[in-house]
Amino acid sequence: MAAETQTAAVLLSRPGVDKPPSESNFTLERRAIPKCKEGEILVKTLYLSVDPYMRCRMNEDSGTSYLTPWSIGESPSGGGVGQVIESRSEKFHAGDIVQSGGWPWQEFSTFPVTANPTLQKEESGYLCTNPSLLLGIVGLTGLTSYIGLKEKAHIKPGANQVMVISGAAGACGIAAGQIAKLEGCGVVVGICGTDEKCRFLTEEMGFDIAINYKTTENISEQLQMKCPAGIDVYFDNVGGEISNEVIRCMNKDSHIVLCGQISLYNKDVPYPPPIPQDIQDILQTRNITRDRFLVLNYMEKFPDGKKQLESWVREGKLKNRETIVEGLENTGKAFVEMMRGANIGKQIVKVAEKVL
Ligand SMILES: NC(=O)c1ccc[n+]([C@@H]2O[C@H](COP(=O)([O-])OP(=O)(O)OC[C@H]3O[C@@H](n4cnc5c(N)ncnc54)[C@H](OP(=O)(O)O)[C@@H]3O)[C@@H](O)[C@H]2O)c1
Repeated sequence: MAAETQTAAVLLSRPGVDKPPSESNFTLERRAIPKCKEGEILVKTLYLSVDPYMRCRMNEDSGTSYLTPWSIGESPSGGGVGQVIESRSEKFHAGDIVQSGGWPWQEFSTFPVTANPTLQKEESGYLCTNPSLLLGIVGLTGLTSYIGLKEKAHIKPGANQVMVISGAAGACGIAAGQIAKLEGCGVVVGICGTDEKCRFLTEEMGFDIAINYKTTENISEQLQMKCPAGIDVYFDNVGGEISNEVIRCMNKDSHIVLCGQISLYNKDVPYPPPIPQDIQDILQTRNITRDRFLVLNYMEKFPDGKKQLESWVREGKLKNRETIVEGLENTGKAFVEMMRGANIGKQIVKVAEKVL
């Protein structure tokens, strides 16, 4: 390899628990490319994932037991996919496509191959040719929607159920809407933040109805008008006032998939955030289920879920959309913009082309 140094993104400062993150929280650094030791692989980063959960890793205390805070002066890490450049392990070979949930935001990294449960070699030729899918529709966000719906939504084919999704034009949202239809849900309604996203949902993703929450004064009223039979399932990506409005329209014995609460991630509140008493009363009197859902608690279901998602994508039954930002140096910016809603589908950073 010619170059001996590389670019790494580094956490420079924390935004504070109740402020939005900004590009100035990140900086760039030149670093040595690490040497590949016995039992390790050296990988070139191809794609990085930026995700809402990363916001809590920017705080000094992440507020969760399963996520550690990012350290100031170090490279943030998250989902990534890359290609093996050098292997000092029999299990991996140069050219292999690998992924990890602990991928540093830098151009090259080394990973130990043993005692590293998040490192996976990709065996599917289709996914090796389309590696960014491993970070979205066939990766953690696709699995979140698939498993979340299977475990918590109680979709009954033929029952003509109505499902509402908030954060509908994002990575989990587009997967959830399409999978709900594939699983037999009758009507799918998406709530999102722009008219362009609304059109995308109804014209390209098969949603029946889309509502722009930024231009709709009374979401409950709109939902009552457009879904006169009420709501049977709510796939909640955002929480806060949007969710309160949806819950007001939910039927007796209906179900919430409590996927995420992004509207409150820049606020100093615990997860899941407290909900107002009148909404709590509705949940109770209408017997609405709202259990916490965390995809990482269902890891034994990942292999089958991934196979199902890949086959739907290959058959053209599950459509994908990505917003791709080019260049490792733009990873912090891509994260900040995704948190502001600039993405349609999965926000991805493309760092490099496959080399072998
Ligand atoms: N439970 C789990 O295991 C699990 C796993 C993965 C993800 N999640 C959760 O799933 C949700 C979606 O994640 P994702 O990766 O698919 O992200 P995403 O939806 O692709 O991107 C985030 C989107 O959130 C919306 N948003 C931002 N601020 C908002 C606000 N104040 N009110 C309403 N919408 C807002 C923006 O779209 P608009 O233009 O529509 O505002 C933005 O595009 C997040 O809450 C995340 O934490 C949960």
